[in-house]
Amino acid sequence: MISHNKNELTVAWPDGFSHRFHPLWLRERSFEESNKDATTGHRVVEVASLPVDLALEEARERNGSVQLAFSDGHRCSYRLDDLRNEAKHLLPDDLVGAKHLWDATLENWPRHEASALIEDDRALLAMTDDLARLGFALIGGLGTGGDDLARLTGRIGPLRATNWGTIADVKNIAEAYDDLSMTGRALEPHVDNPYRLPGPGYIFLHCLESTAQGGESFIVDGFHVARRVQARDPDSFDTLTRTQVGFHYADADAILDHCGPLIELGPDGGLHRVRFHNRAEQVPAYSPEQLTAYYEARRIMAEEVWSPDNTLRFSLKPGEAYVVDNYRLFHGRTEIRLATGNRHLRQCYMDRDMVSSRQKILRRALNVTNKDY
Ligand SMILES: [Fe+2]
Repeated sequence: MISHNKNELTVAWPDGFSHRFHPLWLRERSFEESNKDATTGHRVVEVASLPVDLALEEARERNGSVQLAFSDGHRCSYRLDDLRNEAKHLLPDDLVGAKHLWDATLENWPRHEASALIEDDRALLAMTDDLARLGFALIGGLGTGGDDLARLTGRIGPLRATNWGTIADVKNIAEAYDDLSMTGRALEPHVDNPYRLPGPGYIFLHCLESTAQGGESFIVDGFHVARRVQARDPDSFDTLTRTQVGFHYADADAILDHCGPLIELGPDGGLHRVRFHNRAEQVPAYSPEQLTAYYEARRIMAEEVWSPDNTLRFSLKPGEAYVVDNYRLFHGRTEIRLATGNRHLRQCYMDRDMVSSRQKILRRALNVTNKDY
């Protein structure tokens, strides 16, 4: 199962997976107290000063672990399961879990009850797992009090404060609005606030009142959209990953500008983030050739974003809420007929690291170790 020479350790698992480890990597990760503080796990040795040509002198397998000795005299051991996880997950997880891309045919929508989320860690972990897998979760039974949303978000982590505060009212009114979301206008599929840095990671939307006609909610899996664009026209997909697009917001108190591609790839080449925000998009004055390619690519993406085949629709009732991954999903609503009644939502944002942290803390507390997904 293991073999080594002075320049590498090779571990081969029974399922055929194998990986080669560098001696210095094994040395600098060592959990021995001479290398890392026992309380914090922070390294206390300046690893850049260790010899680059450090040799691996011994490697012995014992009881699911491998014991190592190095040419500088250091000794340490690793569980083979831990080495496997390191080899399989070269980059840090955002949320832990494989993504399931979906379209309008999605069955078994991720529904959760607020009382369970607030009282039961396993229920809360299941919700964060749904966010990892599907990018959204629907929540019922939250109540219609102004503080009910905070009871839920307080179970996960601190909110992201913006110039609009933390939990903001989205009341639909005919005049004196700062943002079109506060009118009765339909909102096309979009991510929230791509003009912020960093962009809001997750959106929580809670319905307190809904007596007006219209205002049906809808969501679209932006990662599925991206893959559809790639399948239809690989050149357009490349254009959308390479073209930096500006997004802009301004009111009396804030001027916000940021940019990014409509489809952003991560360092591993996988889908990392999507952007689509018709109201705020301001593509730079690139050359006509660049813009012709961009406009054609954006048109194809928009067809997929708007396609009923890719869209889930639902009407949010008082006491219901939903959470969306703002780096992955587009959300929107149909027109609200203001003359027919009221619609009052509250919404807030949470940074990505807080949601990810809560999931990992819950996994640790509940001893969930199926990281090898
Ligand atoms: Fe929004």
